[in-house]
Amino acid sequence: MAKRSAVILAAGQGTRMKSPLPKVLHPLAGRPMLAWALANARAAGCEEIAIVVGPHFPEVGRTAAEWVGTNNVFVQSEPLGTGHAALAAEGFIRAQTGECIILFADTPLTPPQALAGVFDTLEAGAGVTVLGFEAADPGGYGRLLRNEAGDLVAIREAKDASPEERAVTLCNSGVLGAKASDMVGWLKRVTNDNAKGEYYLTDLVELARADGRRAAVVTCAEADVLGVNSQAELAKANAAFQVRKRAELLAAGVMMDAPETVFFAFDTQIGPGTRIEPNVVFGPNVIIAGGAWVRAFSHIEGAIVEAGAEVGPYARLRPGAKIGAKAKIGNFVEVKNVTMGDGAKANHLAYLGDGTIGKGANIGAGTIFCNYDGFAKHKTEIGEGAFVGSNSSLVAPVQIGAGAYVGSGSVITKPVSADALAVARGRQSEIEGWAKRFREKMASFVKAKAKQE
Ligand code: UD1
Ligand code: CA
Repeated sequence: MAKRSAVILAAGQGTRMKSPLPKVLHPLAGRPMLAWALANARAAGCEEIAIVVGPHFPEVGRTAAEWVGTNNVFVQSEPLGTGHAALAAEGFIRAQTGECIILFADTPLTPPQALAGVFDTLEAGAGVTVLGFEAADPGGYGRLLRNEAGDLVAIREAKDASPEERAVTLCNSGVLGAKASDMVGWLKRVTNDNAKGEYYLTDLVELARADGRRAAVVTCAEADVLGVNSQAELAKANAAFQVRKRAELLAAGVMMDAPETVFFAFDTQIGPGTRIEPNVVFGPNVIIAGGAWVRAFSHIEGAIVEAGAEVGPYARLRPGAKIGAKAKIGNFVEVKNVTMGDGAKANHLAYLGDGTIGKGANIGAGTIFCNYDGFAKHKTEIGEGAFVGSNSSLVAPVQIGAGAYVGSGSVITKPVSADALAVARGRQSEIEGWAKRFREKMASFVKAKAKQE
């Protein structure tokens, strides 16, 4: 297979986002749009990837450099159009040996298979290939114009289109590919003689045909190539991603009573036979094994949940939470950076931060791991089969031995030995008949006062 490469355009100003955050760094399902484009290109087999950034958001350039290396980041000094932007990466394109695709950072959901389809037609001899789609409402998209034979002859931007051309519904997703060795020459011949006075990448179709080369179209679904120019369009792209992800998980045997109320991150992994109740939100980096049960209104990010575990309702798992097989995390329990052994339980109202909980341990309602002293975080280690009574504060660093009991309401500041009972609270005392005497005294006092008035 010829070497595949990609240039991602991310130099637009993104003014329509009306946000201090650069457009291409806006997250979609927990991952910045630019990272989506990069991941799509990589998954399509691109070995070399360049990113073109603008000078107005140095943050984008820095982030891009972390991902593809400084040498593969190019700055387009002025936003003069997509053709001009691609040419900013001239040195990169010249150095590539095979086919190269140009794609936009504001089109995050493009399936890698669709990009691979573009490469396939190029490798089969097309001079230029464009990824198109049938638009329900073509609006501002570029129109793909074909001749009677069905060959792509030009891409017409909406602003430059005649009424007949505007009626065309086959549109340009923005992805365009060519042999790297052809591309630079064509990019250099692009002019800005059009309605916007911009250098259009889309002119490559006509330039290739003028050189006697064939222009091809491969298509995909509109929902896969939604361009994001505003917050509303970002929300729409997120909705499209959720529809795709829910369908994928249902097909893989995940049970969901109301999938439309469950929100996933780009990388959520869930095993077959796991049940997800309504209104659950997943942040990035979650792996849930098969046969688990995530109950309603739980929020889960950066966590691993093993087979047969039960989480929620109303549970919060934060980064570093590892819930063992058949363990239970109940309502209003927050877990952060804690490894919980198989079959351990924390069924109600607890904060478990920074520590380990042994197999089969039972953490009572209201238990708090006091992990932070205002400067550093410390660990709480609880042995296998230990029992922590309700409303206990475990002041870290601290260890509770295997099989030990902690009496309810304790504030534990020292290690507890295995199989011991630790109680750290005021001792209970009793005064016989006190309540009765108190009531009688108060009653006579109330009577005397009423007489006076
Ligand atoms: C572009 C296409 C249009 C297509 C649509 C799909 C052109 C001329 N038009 O229009 O045919 O239907 O995308 O969404 O290509 N960018 C730069 N530098 C620039 C201008 C843009 O890097 O000077 C980048 C932007 O950051 C963005 C992408 O290129 O990621 C697309 O630019 P945008 O202005 O959004 O193009 P559209 O008008 O949407
Ligand atoms: Ca756009």
